[in-house]
Amino acid sequence: VNDGGVPLPPYALRVLRGGQDLLEILRCPTCRRRLRPRTDALRCRRGHDWPVVHGVPVFSEVGRDVEVREEDHVSHQPGERAWAELAAGPSPWLHLGAGATTSVLPGSVELETAIFPNTAVVGDVHSLPFADQSLRGVLALNVFEHLADPPRAAAELRRVLAPGSRLVIQSAFLQPLHADPSHYFNATEHGMRVWFRDFDQLDVHVPGNMAPCFALGWMASDLLFHADEADREALAALTLGELGSLWQGEACASPGLVALDRVPEHVRRMLAAGFEVRAVRP
Ligand SMILES: C[S@@+](CC[C@H](N)C(=O)[O-])C[C@H]1O[C@@H](n2cnc3c(N)ncnc32)[C@H](O)[C@@H]1O
Ligand SMILES: [Zn+2]
Repeated sequence: VNDGGVPLPPYALRVLRGGQDLLEILRCPTCRRRLRPRTDALRCRRGHDWPVVHGVPVFSEVGRDVEVREEDHVSHQPGERAWAELAAGPSPWLHLGAGATTSVLPGSVELETAIFPNTAVVGDVHSLPFADQSLRGVLALNVFEHLADPPRAAAELRRVLAPGSRLVIQSAFLQPLHADPSHYFNATEHGMRVWFRDFDQLDVHVPGNMAPCFALGWMASDLLFHADEADREALAALTLGELGSLWQGEACASPGLVALDRVPEHVRRMLAAGFEVRAVRP
């Protein structure tokens, strides 16, 4: 039975992954009104239609053309330390940008931009299709660096979370460019504090899977992978000592540093210390 006391057509519960429970918390992202099931869509009172594809409501401009990803590749599986607290608390909680999980974490609702095997909702975190205060937690791993407007995404999470809900976010600091499909912001811990300034008890720490060895290791791995065959050996022999003295302005021309100086332009852009923008005011 939906909010108007009208029994749902049987297909609605059969079709919607998460069924009635999910329908209770879903809202039209355009006007925030409740949604009612149609034959193969959810419709709000103002007539905004959102298709249901393979049982997944699609709150996105792509509509029925939504990508369906039968993954052979499985996403990074979140360590239990990251989500145990969320799974032990009240549900439903949001697993944002979950990618291709092997199983649905207990009590979670997976939201993605395409339909992966366990996706429950397709949507955009900048404009979430959920009622105010309808969720009891959120987990987002390696998602925020891919968002065009992280402060707006944080404000949306605050809107849909019930008071006292837990938020667990892991996001990039010293990571090379890794578009998926876009990579916008690497944040320092100060930047992350600004993104989540409207949350209480903000603790920012380095989780085990994001220790400095992984920052250096990822850069080294990308460099070696993309370098010209002829330069790979010299790069592999480059030491931290040589890099350190380069930074301290000591003249040093080891073969590794010379090779580092001639990586292709796309690799310079993946691993640069910064960018310069030049523009003209229109
Ligand atoms: C690097 S993947 C991380 C996947 C998984 N959480 C992991 O750690 O392996 C980033 C994910 O964020 C999702 N994403 C990007 N922009 C999004 C948006 N605006 N709203 C919701 N999800 C988004 C992408 O579809 C992608 O699956
Ligand atoms: Zn609407």
